[in-house]
Amino acid sequence: MNNFEFFNPTKIVFGTETIAKLDQLVPATARVMVLLGGESARKNGTLAEVRAALGSREVHEFNGIEPNPTYETLMQAVEIIRTEKLDFLLAVGGGSVIDGTKFVAAAVPFVGEPWDILTSFGQNISSALPFGTVLTLPATGSEMNHGAVITQKATQTKLPFMNPLVFPQFSILDPSKTFTLPTRQIANGVVDAFVHTVEQYLTYPAGGMVQDRYAEGLLNILIEIGPKVLANPQDYDLRANLMWAATQALNGLIGAGVPQDWSTHMIGHELTALFDIDHARTLAIVLPANLALRSESKREKLLQYAERVWHITEGTDAERIAAAIHKTREFFEAMGIQTRLADYGLSQDAVDAVVKQLAAHGMTALGERQDVTLAMSRQILENSL
Ligand code: NZQ
Ligand code: ZN
Repeated sequence: MNNFEFFNPTKIVFGTETIAKLDQLVPATARVMVLLGGESARKNGTLAEVRAALGSREVHEFNGIEPNPTYETLMQAVEIIRTEKLDFLLAVGGGSVIDGTKFVAAAVPFVGEPWDILTSFGQNISSALPFGTVLTLPATGSEMNHGAVITQKATQTKLPFMNPLVFPQFSILDPSKTFTLPTRQIANGVVDAFVHTVEQYLTYPAGGMVQDRYAEGLLNILIEIGPKVLANPQDYDLRANLMWAATQALNGLIGAGVPQDWSTHMIGHELTALFDIDHARTLAIVLPANLALRSESKREKLLQYAERVWHITEGTDAERIAAAIHKTREFFEAMGIQTRLADYGLSQDAVDAVVKQLAAHGMTALGERQDVTLAMSRQILENSL
């Protein structure tokens, strides 16, 4: 096991009727900006509950944070907060709203051009406004981590940043607030959490037995409940387990002390920025081809994955690895997510465009060994056509 430091200050408040606890969690004298996506939280009553819990505090609302939040939209919120001198942020929504709120929290006090927060991957942040979240879509884990992914529309650039200053102070996880999710977003959530786990597990052995069993546990849960959540959209316990699994998949625990890949995500971000494909769907396209191309360098973990997650024990090493990758693709498709670029109307010129963007963004040495070159990213994408 590699040396590590684990720190996560986010208070999790989990369960039904927990939004009322905002009154204890948000300072009584706070001047609050509530940040929202489109209409879902207003339509399903979550926003009304939030407003009721905030009581007589001064509250402003910022609507319109789009899926894959954009710098252009978020800077409007930054201007309002600076003008109104607001001092506490509350994200109500999914990963896009929470990520957007993290950027806004860092950008408001930032001296200089806030896009530089992204180009430095968050290393140049020295302070951030305090904020909390009310999660409405289980997928990203943003509710309990210090990362965010922001898109600059003008340049079709989607980049991640991380900094301990943008951990949420608290996150309210009420599974019943996710019942209004469309099937498409439920499936996205299951697959995103699945691939988060794989990015921190399917690398090479590093003596992380605790982390491995933890990751295998999360993968087995997602495989078991994924299809059941789609079939039983109003089942509270299924939804609660999906929510907690997605949070656990990217709150830092399973990745502490072990190698991490993230090449599937970096390639996926370019597909979203260029072609507006949902985040999780880009991962379902890229992961199977990525694992197949790098099966030799991931051989031991792929064999462990085949046995412990898919219960594949028959055949040669190569046959078991191919079967496990095939099962992974099948699982994504069973969730209603297509796994070929052609399924999204994309062909060779899309591959060329993504490789060009990867080069422009310095994504030339990806993966747990920093050995995923542009040529390999191109091969992975061509094998995903
Ligand atoms: O905008 P509204 O009307 O709220 O509709 C949203 C949005 O259209 C809808 N929705 C959310 N909660 C709902 C609901 N509809 C009905 N009922 C509800 N309860 O769902 C749509 C998608 O929401 P979004 O927030 O975009 O989805 P998700 O949570 O999957 O977040 C995706 C974003 O997170 C980033 C992705 O890159 C993408 O930008 N990620 C963040 C990560 C992190 N911070 O650690 C890691 C991930 O790998 C990922 O990169
Ligand atoms: Zn993801």
